[in-house]
Amino acid sequence: MKAGQTVGKNEGQVILLTGAAQGIGRATAKALAARGYRLGLMDRYGEPLETLEAELKNQTGIATAQVDVCDALSLKRAVESLEERLGPTEILVACAGVGTSSNALDLDVDGFRRMLEVNVVGVAHSIDAVLPGMFARKAGHIVGISSVAGYRGMPWMPGYSASKAALTTYLEALRPALKRRGVTITTVYPGFVRTGMTLNTSFRNPVPMLEAEQAAAYLVRAIVRRPRDYTFPLGTAIGMDILRRLPCRLFDWVMDRAGPRALTTEF
Ligand SMILES: NC(=O)c1ccc[n+]([C@@H]2O[C@H](COP(=O)([O-])OP(=O)(O)OC[C@H]3O[C@@H](n4cnc5c(N)ncnc54)[C@H](OP(=O)(O)O)[C@@H]3O)[C@@H](O)[C@H]2O)c1
Repeated sequence: MKAGQTVGKNEGQVILLTGAAQGIGRATAKALAARGYRLGLMDRYGEPLETLEAELKNQTGIATAQVDVCDALSLKRAVESLEERLGPTEILVACAGVGTSSNALDLDVDGFRRMLEVNVVGVAHSIDAVLPGMFARKAGHIVGISSVAGYRGMPWMPGYSASKAALTTYLEALRPALKRRGVTITTVYPGFVRTGMTLNTSFRNPVPMLEAEQAAAYLVRAIVRRPRDYTFPLGTAIGMDILRRLPCRLFDWVMDRAGPRALTTEF
């Protein structure tokens, strides 16, 4: 089945989605709404959420909450409020994330800390807010958005790579305990997607990128099928899998030579 094809109706299932107001999250919200899911949409700023809600006004079962995933207490309250309006959370899609590049001449440690807070701890807060209910019902699906950038250390974004590797490992470690209690975890690894996050990446030549709507179609498939891991698109999955399996010395050699040719910035 190709990305973009309808994968079936799931009317009535309640999905909470963080990072819903922009990029992949926004496109995914629209794709899920079109399939009849009931959606609790969260993001940290109100205005883009309001415009999204207005765009989805003809769909039933849409609720929004303005919340920062780094604020655990507010996040729990937001989840409670969304569940009062929609019903218990059946699926959590933890999509909120931040990504910046850095290099050896400017490590941007504050940016790194922020990426760890949002991309790792923010996802943990989001899971923590829905888990008690899922455990009580012995059912649930958690979809964490990692990245192929977490497969290996990418020289132009060491902090982002490290944050996504940490998220991948965190979700892997949670998986068996949650499975025993009826909750499935899917880790998603998108390739490059054209969003605000990738707008200013310093590639020397244009890099093939998916549009957010294409990424959303893949994400919907992962939500429906519940695989353990899901990397897209296929070309990226194959290429990055080879990179992931390279012996460390060969990986270092490749990055040392390919990096300066691929990037306009020093690393
Ligand atoms: N684009 C790619 O190529 C790519 C590839 C692999 C993985 N990913 C991952 O996919 C996810 C979505 O990325 P994207 O490309 O769609 O980026 P995006 O367009 O920047 O969207 C990210 C969304 O998350 C929100 N967000 C950030 N920090 C938050 C916080 N503390 N609390 C609540 N919401 C917060 C953002 O709000 P603001 O607009 O206010 O910042 C934004 O709405 C991220 O986890 C990203 O790491 C992206």
